[in-house]
Amino acid sequence: MLSASSIFQEIKSDPDAFRFFVSVAAKGETQGGWENGRIAELLDDEVLRPKVLRHGEDESKHGRIFRRLLEQRGLRCVEVDPEADYCMHLERWGIGLSHRRLETSKPLSEEEVISYLVHSRVTEQRAAEEVDLMVKLFGDDPDIGPAVRMIADDEINHLSYCHEELLRLSAEGWEEYIRRMLEAYAKAEIKAYRKTSLAFVDRMADILSWNPLKKGLLKLGVHAKYFIERLVTWRRMVRLAPPVRPGALG
Ligand SMILES: [Fe+2]
Ligand SMILES: [Fe+2]
Repeated sequence: MLSASSIFQEIKSDPDAFRFFVSVAAKGETQGGWENGRIAELLDDEVLRPKVLRHGEDESKHGRIFRRLLEQRGLRCVEVDPEADYCMHLERWGIGLSHRRLETSKPLSEEEVISYLVHSRVTEQRAAEEVDLMVKLFGDDPDIGPAVRMIADDEINHLSYCHEELLRLSAEGWEEYIRRMLEAYAKAEIKAYRKTSLAFVDRMADILSWNPLKKGLLKLGVHAKYFIERLVTWRRMVRLAPPVRPGALG
């Protein structure tokens, strides 16, 4: 059977598959931590800076939590190939601030701060949904359950923070600019997510020796999800609503 539950149980039971799965998650979180840390250093805004710092600390903590899950099983992170690297695909599609930009020392413009927040709004939506799925699948697992519940709770904070900051900037006259950027980033994110997911299925198929039919069906599922998102559900990523948790990051 090809349910999400059966696939994730299969991944969890195999050390190599589990190691790859957790390494992908840890890499994304650690990368998010680094990006937020750099953005905080380049910010002129004294009110926003502590929130960005907190955001970065949370993401770095998530990276450590995932690595600890591996260590509990006597495993260590493996290198994630570029095709399965979500952050790299996002950058390639022009979402957010590039690595090269973040490595400079030039303070961020207001447009660049908005780019960071819109990038976060879109990717935190994805992160919150992915980790919610992990809570559903592994919530009862004594090792993985507490870890993914803690991360899921943080992701609600991050999403709330993005809504709050973007609504504030919209009220300051950036509404149309933000609306257009949200739309462009959401449409690019779903492409980046499809690319990453296809690479993930390929890698898992190799590790777990899936037959061509199983691999093909899972890839078909990735394409189907993309087309549903492209036609309808991408809109969930661009809505701005009063935050579920006001002042979530301070
Ligand atoms: Fe995270
Ligand atoms: Fe997050």
